[in-house]
Amino acid sequence: MKRILLLGDIHANYPALKAISKYIQPNKFDQIINTGDFTVYSTFPNETIKWFRKRRKKAICILGNTDRRLLRILKGKKLKRPKKEEKRVMYFWTSENLHRKNITYLKFLPKETDFTVGKIRCGLFHGTRDNLDEELVPSAPESRFQQLARNSPYRVQIMGHSHVPYYKIVDGVHFINPGSVGRMFDADPRASFAILKVSSGKIAVEHFRIPYPVEAVVKDLKKHRLPEIYTKMFQTGEKLN
Ligand SMILES: [Fe+2]
Repeated sequence: MKRILLLGDIHANYPALKAISKYIQPNKFDQIINTGDFTVYSTFPNETIKWFRKRRKKAICILGNTDRRLLRILKGKKLKRPKKEEKRVMYFWTSENLHRKNITYLKFLPKETDFTVGKIRCGLFHGTRDNLDEELVPSAPESRFQQLARNSPYRVQIMGHSHVPYYKIVDGVHFINPGSVGRMFDADPRASFAILKVSSGKIAVEHFRIPYPVEAVVKDLKKHRLPEIYTKMFQTGEKLN
């Protein structure tokens, strides 16, 4: 049996990643997947990226939209979105505080990728396989899942971005979103992740929600005098606005 740890949308929330790491012993997994958005909104982008760099051999990671925006800022380009000044602060703070080694690591990551477990082909996307920025949620019309399943070279499609954990099988394709490790939108601040098990062609998925020390995130945001909208976001487990 192959066991794959599915992580994503960590958003620099290292205390949440560490809590998961303690809970499930990542070294026991055959592979560790990250659906993207390592960075922005908490103050631990370096610790977060280092965690994956240390597990380079097992980790399969892609960039998320926040990571792509961050790389554009680092190239000297203007940040178009978000528009609100308070929301832009974390992008600039991250660009100023990210260590060189971690910038290099991000620069070499793909926007999407695929891998094989047993004989099962898995696609990994931040949004969906035809739109990097699509926020696919389980309540989306069945027809959308059918479109994504049509001619899919992958039996499993793993996605992030919507921060909504789900597992759906449509037309034989398994759609999995592990939810967000570090920035939930459903008013439950606990960290979300999933485990994918593949055994002789059979696929099983289990989702988890575990608590982590939110106060560690809040304390560090305050230490760096960052806007209160971020501390509120982590405390409530809700979107910025
Ligand atoms: Fe995200």
